[in-house]
Amino acid sequence: MHVAVVLGTRPEIIKMSPIIRYCEELDLDYSLIHTGQHYSYEMDAAFFHDLELPKPGHKLNVGSGTHAEQTGKIMVGLERILIHDRPDVVLVQGDTNTVLGSALSAAKLNVDVGHVEAGLRSWDRTMPEEINRILTDHLSRYLFAPTEKARTNLLQEGIDGEKIRVTGNTVVDAVLQNIEIAEQRSHILHDLDLEPGKYFLLTAHRQENVDDRAKLENLIVAMQDLYSIYGLPILFPAHPRTLKRLNEFGLPVPEGVYVLEPQGYLEFLLLEKSARAILTDSGGIQEEACILHVPCITLRENTERPEALDTGGNILAGTEPKRILQAVSTTLSTEATWMNPFGDGQSGKRIIEVLLSDR
Ligand code: UD1
Ligand code: UDP
Repeated sequence: MHVAVVLGTRPEIIKMSPIIRYCEELDLDYSLIHTGQHYSYEMDAAFFHDLELPKPGHKLNVGSGTHAEQTGKIMVGLERILIHDRPDVVLVQGDTNTVLGSALSAAKLNVDVGHVEAGLRSWDRTMPEEINRILTDHLSRYLFAPTEKARTNLLQEGIDGEKIRVTGNTVVDAVLQNIEIAEQRSHILHDLDLEPGKYFLLTAHRQENVDDRAKLENLIVAMQDLYSIYGLPILFPAHPRTLKRLNEFGLPVPEGVYVLEPQGYLEFLLLEKSARAILTDSGGIQEEACILHVPCITLRENTERPEALDTGGNILAGTEPKRILQAVSTTLSTEATWMNPFGDGQSGKRIIEVLLSDR
């Protein structure tokens, strides 16, 4: 069996890493294809380095662009490789343009698609990610749902239950495989002169938040208020999309907010683990906060990760300063005793074993 593992962005590199490691361990016939959707060192190569991943065998170098440009380039580039290599399965992860473009190319060539992290739904079709998820799920032969809720979503859309396996989310594998290494190797808290529990961690990159001037400005005001109330530094490893928008809109970063380059995985895991609370609109960071038992304030109106809300450790707060501050205050009085709902750290192995047993 030949498996083609396709990835293209930061979270895909992280969440595919346990699958890649397991393929290496089994000495499986697999190939690694990078679309190049993310390409800056700190969004791409830094993770291959931190996670000790092999170099991709193919690079499509699609880069940035509009949704149609990016998805189209991915389709054309991957089609060529698939016609030549004829893998048995194409594995994609998550909800990016890389995922949809790759799934479309594979499905049109009658190559089976395996979707890792299938069945997530925000029920908000204004999000590009929701469109990517739904279409990819319906193109897939193997749907690796992280939770029972995700399986239920798929069944409700009429997807054949035989195609669905609940495997847990590979993000748990990635956290468990790397947290101790991070603790041994990274000195980020010392380097930034931070004390555990004495800072907030902020990230924001969703198109609907940072491309909208009013929402981005609201987030900035919220951070200003947060600093004036608690006096704790707010660490902000900024996504390149967000930096670009802050500059374009001419929005200055307030006192107490420290803008950093996007961090490597080991550094970021430590920053998450020791934060007093995390404020984010990221999908993967909501999961990691939950796994690491750190309270999370989600800067969105909805989430495709309702399991995190159910633990009580994550609160949806949108982008209005008042609601964000209220959520921080609630969060700080919540005890972090919840159970991680996203899996046991064996998801990568389970996914490959499903493929091996089926062929
Ligand atoms: C993409 C995904 C999003 C995911 C995120 C992970 C889609 C539709 N969106 O969003 O779901 O949560 O990745 O981080 O697929 N840029 C750089 N260097 C890079 C990559 C991007 O400077 O390596 C800048 C460019 O200005 C680019 C902008 O960031 O235009 C946005 O990049 P893009 O890949 O289109 O979307 P993301 O916001 O990264
Ligand atoms: N991450 C990182 N460095 C950073 C910010 C995030 O290593 O500076 C990691 C984080 O630990 C998580 C993933 O990137 O595993 C989340 O990616 P992102 O927020 O870009 O995308 P999303 O999960 O929302 O698709």
